[in-house]
Amino acid sequence: MTIQENISLLPYNTFRMDVKARYLAQYESIDELRELLNKFQDTRRLFIGEGSNLLFTGDFDGLVCQSKMCRAAATKETEEDVWIEVQGGLKLDLLIEQVADMQLYGLENLSYIPGQVGAGAVQNVGAYGREIKDCIEQVNAWDLQTMQSVSFTREECHYAYRDSLFKREGKNRYIITSVVFRLSKTPQLHLDYGNLKEYLQQDANPQQVRQTIIQIRKKKLPEVSELGSAGSFFKNPIVSADKFNNLKEKYKDIPSYPVGDNYKIPAAWLIEQCGWKGKTVGGAKVYDRQPLVIVNTGNATSSDICSLAKQIVDSVYNRFQITIDKEVEYV
Ligand code: EPU
Repeated sequence: MTIQENISLLPYNTFRMDVKARYLAQYESIDELRELLNKFQDTRRLFIGEGSNLLFTGDFDGLVCQSKMCRAAATKETEEDVWIEVQGGLKLDLLIEQVADMQLYGLENLSYIPGQVGAGAVQNVGAYGREIKDCIEQVNAWDLQTMQSVSFTREECHYAYRDSLFKREGKNRYIITSVVFRLSKTPQLHLDYGNLKEYLQQDANPQQVRQTIIQIRKKKLPEVSELGSAGSFFKNPIVSADKFNNLKEKYKDIPSYPVGDNYKIPAAWLIEQCGWKGKTVGGAKVYDRQPLVIVNTGNATSSDICSLAKQIVDSVYNRFQITIDKEVEYV
């Protein structure tokens, strides 16, 4: 375990905010996590993954904890499937690279999403028609209230679009220590999203899907190593059928995806309609290629980013009477 004091969080957040933490600790086992929690019982604490979905709005006068628990091992196998238990600190994309090489299907559509496995399971990351929950069998966590290990089935995690128990009723209570994935040995492709079928044959292997998704993401989304961002800043709003039909009358070309009886509308479209593409506030900018993303052009302050985000939310509401929620968490 390492504990550093008065440390810059610049390398620990993809928005590249140069803020400081009073303490930064990295733990490599549940025992170390327990030790850390005992040592800093009365200190404000924040558990981060790769810091790819948060915005620091100032220095953090407390303990920032990052998991360095990175092991993965198969725990069960049948003719069709393999169960792999993966510790929360492993980078999701490293896992996907490995399982794609092993010809295991299930996670390949989530390729190149930044972040750790544990954080991905908290916020149910998703892309190209798949969500991480689709492959999750079980989530193991440390319960800060009882100071004991606890397990959840997928159903018990209450997964929804970019949402779970760990963001709602379990927020600040559970630290994900490992996730059990069930992956398929037989081809199970999910190519219905967008124009994926144009690039991939129905007999593509997981590595081919992975490489295609990486190419698409590179074209559309900023590389966090080159331009600070936290991916999608907003969630795509879901509106009722009535609301959608009213909008459709006025805006004939409004894109949408049915979700049960409701409709999901791309926030990117709403934001673009309001004229935000490429607009800036200080060093914060609406990304030209994907207006769902706010980027730090180099010297953005968190106030620039918050102010730009608020202006976007207000203008989308004024024009469409739809409230878009942010996906990024403010700290
Ligand atoms: N669109 C525009 N203008 C643009 C770009 C997109 O109007 O400049 C509209 C188009 O109608 C397009 C639609 O937005 O068809 C959807 O765009 P895209 O396929 O790029 O996906 P998204 O809805 O914008 C979601 C996820 C992404 C994920 C992609 C691909 C959310 C909040 N975002 O974005 O996730 O990579 O789908 O599956 O659900 C992330 O969460 O950080 C993230 C990048």
